[in-house]
Amino acid sequence: MDITRRNLFKMAGVAAVGAAIGQFNVAEALSTTKNDEGEISMASIHIAAKVGEVAERVLLPGDPVRAKIIAENFLEDIHQYTAIRNIFGFTGKYKGERVSIQATGMGIPSISIYLHELIEVFGAKKLIRVGTCGGMNENIRLRDVLIAQGSSTDSSIVNQVFGGAVNFSLLADFELLSKAVSVAKNLDLPVKVGNVICTDLFYNDYDDPNGTFGDGKNTFNDKLRRYGILAVEMESAALYLHAAAANVQALAIFTVSDDLLRKEHCTPEERQSTFNDMIKIALETIIQ
Ligand code: HPA
Repeated sequence: MDITRRNLFKMAGVAAVGAAIGQFNVAEALSTTKNDEGEISMASIHIAAKVGEVAERVLLPGDPVRAKIIAENFLEDIHQYTAIRNIFGFTGKYKGERVSIQATGMGIPSISIYLHELIEVFGAKKLIRVGTCGGMNENIRLRDVLIAQGSSTDSSIVNQVFGGAVNFSLLADFELLSKAVSVAKNLDLPVKVGNVICTDLFYNDYDDPNGTFGDGKNTFNDKLRRYGILAVEMESAALYLHAAAANVQALAIFTVSDDLLRKEHCTPEERQSTFNDMIKIALETIIQ
């Protein structure tokens, strides 16, 4: 993906703002290459890295501050390669292996932009999302760690790709999934594995029996629950679809931060401590 000299000036503005608030270096942010016509271009629009600065193994939190916390607490020799839109990306080493932590923002459209650029421009090969989810099943409690074996979605992205001809199954990479399960077992950290619903709307009427999909008695969430859906979140479908399209490995791991059944929510401190278990599982899995 090449960007012409014209757009470079726009990006220079973005980079200058980043530099002005002390986040990163303009020269580094404006990593330039030349296209066939000799025009100066940047490697990618939303990630201000040079090709080679992003590792093949990438952890994907939604929140940029969490990306920074993960990099600072789990990696060595960290280097921040982007701050465009304050969506941070870092590369460092975990147990001697290069790993990047790239924030993605929330929801399918946002993560799709980062997935495309990470995979197509920077050559990412193993991607593990580390996020939060809303538990919606009797067996799922606050602070549990879940792994999405499959991702069902109300988003149109599958139809956009397959034109309605195929209800393509969005699946975790089996090798990453089985490694994550055995890593968790070895660390004595319980995990639950199953199907999740990846939704476009954080605030919807799925829990209203008279809402769009309710039947007046049961809610749409009741139906999803009956079909074994463990939790709701907003990015895994995009992750599994992009990974399938590019034949790279992907996995989505979550900490349950909200319990939709019992109407309970984690405190910020609780989010932080359980988040660490998930990060350990993700990092130990991705370096194998
Ligand atoms: N809904 C959707 N995504 C989420 C939720 C939720 O309740 N909690 C954390 N991510």
